[in-house]
Amino acid sequence: MGWLNKVVVGLMVVLIAYKLSKMNKEPPLPTLDPNPWWAPGEPQQEDVSINRFNINFSKKEVDDLKARLALPLRLTPGLEDANFTYGINADTLHTIVQYWRKKYDWNKRQTRLNTYPHFKTRIEGLDIHFMRASAKVGSAKNVKVVPLLLIHGWPGSFVEFYDILPLLTNPQEGSSVVFEVICPSIPGYGFSQGSSKQGFGQLEVAQVFLKLMKRLGYKQFYLQGGDWGSLIASNMATMYPNNTLGVHLNMISVRTNAVSLKMILGAYLPAGVLVAKEDQDKIYPLSNLYSMILRESGYAHLQATKPDTIGAALNQSPVSLAAYILEKFSSWTHRDNLHQPDGSLLQQHFPISLDAMLDNICIYWFTSSITTSVRFYSEVMNKNMFTRSLDNNPCRVPAGFAVFPQEIMTLPKNLVSHKFYNIVSFNDQPAGGHFAAMERPALLAADLHQFVNTVEKGT
Ligand SMILES: *[C@@H]1O[C@H](CO)[C@@H](O)[C@H](O)[C@H]1NC(C)=O
Ligand SMILES: *[C@@H]1O[C@H](CO)[C@@H](O)[C@H](O)[C@H]1NC(C)=O
Ligand SMILES: *[C@@H]1O[C@H](CO)[C@@H](O)[C@H](O)[C@H]1NC(C)=O
Repeated sequence: MGWLNKVVVGLMVVLIAYKLSKMNKEPPLPTLDPNPWWAPGEPQQEDVSINRFNINFSKKEVDDLKARLALPLRLTPGLEDANFTYGINADTLHTIVQYWRKKYDWNKRQTRLNTYPHFKTRIEGLDIHFMRASAKVGSAKNVKVVPLLLIHGWPGSFVEFYDILPLLTNPQEGSSVVFEVICPSIPGYGFSQGSSKQGFGQLEVAQVFLKLMKRLGYKQFYLQGGDWGSLIASNMATMYPNNTLGVHLNMISVRTNAVSLKMILGAYLPAGVLVAKEDQDKIYPLSNLYSMILRESGYAHLQATKPDTIGAALNQSPVSLAAYILEKFSSWTHRDNLHQPDGSLLQQHFPISLDAMLDNICIYWFTSSITTSVRFYSEVMNKNMFTRSLDNNPCRVPAGFAVFPQEIMTLPKNLVSHKFYNIVSFNDQPAGGHFAAMERPALLAADLHQFVNTVEKGT
């Protein structure tokens, strides 16, 4: 069989050479229909008014949730000593549902969620929600107000940002900027209407958010995001460099051919040749990385392929919805949480309060948006994974990265530089995971301030 091996190796060499020859070619930016219509039916004249509202679910809706939570639970006991390794377990879910029913006070939480004003405005047929947190300069001297578009992810929402916002809108020691923050909801998430038509994906949302910022009077602004927020911010910075002052991300995914090849080759070469020594543990050993990805990414495959099926199951019961979302809060804040009997969710030191996690679940529940939220996976990952990706289009605006040690998706700086040509800051953080804004608001805010101060000094 020696000849077969030679043919295979020969083919691989040809393939790699071909790939390498294509790597440095910059593909053109995609062109989008500038005025699509995502609402049901035919396009209509757009109402461009901006309308203030309070979050205020009716007594009927709140009572309905309580009644559903009071139904007998149909939980299957967990396997002995399995902890969270088979997913969320019955004991933990039971405890949380009792807390939700008896201790969690929606009215009080709703008041908190109305700390910042909420608005809706119609773009491309869709009602787009955003929350606005205004800069408070006060008596501070020499502080510049800069606009920031702050973008959430899945299974998050604008609820992610209540702890970080005060650190962005108020003057901070050592920083000469404060932020005027716009937190939109991705269409299909929370109060932002989902598309009624197929094809609303990662590029379409970028165009909607650009239109939103322009409507609010911001021609240029900073971008910050994790999870989907990271992809959307990265796409906006790539498509609209002239509107972007800088982009700051706390989840990093760059999948160019060169990056994939270097990741694999780097595993066989001494540390420092392709991937810096201090960055080795971000991706190596690849067997750990890939087994973690396989273990933790089943939800994405499901949501990318059958979003309406899982959506129907989750939207029928607040307990099911909570089980599905809480498991992500457990495993994405720390890899080892799945070896804790309660996934760490009920422990004193868990970095996010149960109330904040339930606020987020309540937003999905009351707005009935879990199905439209998971459909976004289908548009991004299923149909358009490769054809609509901007990974091979360089991003030339100033970029900053806050790298949290428990983040599920990250990369070494020299691989990130394959897409981001102007990395201004790239800082390893001492602690924290995927939900950085909720878990470590002070670290994330400080990193963002530092990045923007550096960019502002240079301009
Ligand atoms: C919510 O709606 C009720 C009934 O319409 C009203 O009395 C109450 O003031 C509203 N609360 C908020 C925060 O808007
Ligand atoms: C940004 O502005 C420059 C100068 O006006 C222009 O040449 C360039 O095409 C613009 N880039 C994009 C992506 O719109
Ligand atoms: C489950 O948790 C117990 C107690 O913390 C621990 O001793 C055990 O090793 C864990 N098992 C798994 C499979 O995570």
